[in-house]
Amino acid sequence: MLKRQLLRLESQPFRAVRPARHVIHHPPPCIQSRNVSYVQVKPVGLRTAIAWPNGVETTFDNQFLLDHCRCPKCFHPVTKQRLKSLFDFTPLVEPDAVEVDTKSVRIVWSDAHESRFPFSFLLRAAYDPPLAPREDEPDDRILWNSRISQSPPIVQYQSLMIEEVGEEKAELGILRWLRKVSDFGFCLVSDVPVSPQETQKVIERIATIRPTHYGGFWDFTANMSLGDLAYSSQALPAHTDTTYFTDPAGLQIFHLLSHPSPPGTGGSTLLVDAFYSASLLSQLDPTAYSVLSRLRVPAHASGTPGSLLRPVISQPTFRHDERGRLAQVRWNNEDRGVIGSRWTPGDVQSWYAAARRFEEICRNEDTEYWVQLRPGTLLVIDNWRVMHGRSAFTGDRRMCGAYIGADDWRSRKAALEARFVSKAAGEDDIWESGW
Ligand SMILES: [Fe+2]
Ligand SMILES: [Zn+2]
Repeated sequence: MLKRQLLRLESQPFRAVRPARHVIHHPPPCIQSRNVSYVQVKPVGLRTAIAWPNGVETTFDNQFLLDHCRCPKCFHPVTKQRLKSLFDFTPLVEPDAVEVDTKSVRIVWSDAHESRFPFSFLLRAAYDPPLAPREDEPDDRILWNSRISQSPPIVQYQSLMIEEVGEEKAELGILRWLRKVSDFGFCLVSDVPVSPQETQKVIERIATIRPTHYGGFWDFTANMSLGDLAYSSQALPAHTDTTYFTDPAGLQIFHLLSHPSPPGTGGSTLLVDAFYSASLLSQLDPTAYSVLSRLRVPAHASGTPGSLLRPVISQPTFRHDERGRLAQVRWNNEDRGVIGSRWTPGDVQSWYAAARRFEEICRNEDTEYWVQLRPGTLLVIDNWRVMHGRSAFTGDRRMCGAYIGADDWRSRKAALEARFVSKAAGEDDIWESGW
């Protein structure tokens, strides 16, 4: 039954949504092109209404506006931090004078403070009503299935290294690399020198390595030295790592340094786009999707002497952002703790049914991408999205790698976008921070 349903969906296996990278922040064309005198600002008691040329009216609380003033007294232009407390202005503030120019609204407040708000900020920040509905923002993510094997995302090691191509090109190389990680949830790097030192160096081009109870940069053969199945030679089903952390590792990075074959065999790497599987589940079995989005699943790591890990707050398998978009999949059957605490008896039954359904989709030839890694090819995985696993192996298989925090790699990418994209678009970065 599932097979038939999957086949039906195969007509659109890559839900490639390729949007403009730059979303929102710009006034709709009507505001840019028409005479600005069409923008009208009307004080209404403790609120200020702004009527836009397209006839839409937005209202802001005055205290919201003053709180978001980004003059040098209110906002540090270098550190980009708010410089005033909530008690530095009164909730009863009203505009004394208002002026509209071609790009912004200037307000002199009743306490004599002066603020200027660009239209682009007001349009983006509008909440009554919202004018840039976040739900309409295009999604960069390209969901994939087993056919990604035909053309997996890949970048070349040389393009990432300053010594090879110079600072600017190497930084652009990192941006391209992280965009692929962001779009596909993983990316290969070819021609990496087969040495732990060089591997660590290229990983650190992204961000500082995140140390865990396994250490920082790791380099190991299967010897069970750290009390986790990852350190064995047995097959591992597709999973995400560190579900037992309050904040699971953002990137999981692997480099197979050696696996002489023969005598060694096996050890293929398995990747599954959990967002693709989740999107199939939401279409095939919406109830299962909502069960996995609702019930919090405890996880733990208890095999390493001296460490007993579990998240401060247990989380459901599917976590969504403020816009309701899937933002994280946590899926690790091996590290799952005791479920059912504070659930209803019906929840327990629903969870098993939903979890089996999801696992059935993930363990399917349509969803599984198997790749035989070779020394010289680094694999970077977004551990919040793409699950990894491997087949059993024999022989000495030496792997090295590291974790990078989810905020750290996204921050690196955002900073590079700001350097190479926003600046080129001439945006005022004072108003670009804090969203
Ligand atoms: Fe793992
Ligand atoms: Zn100010």
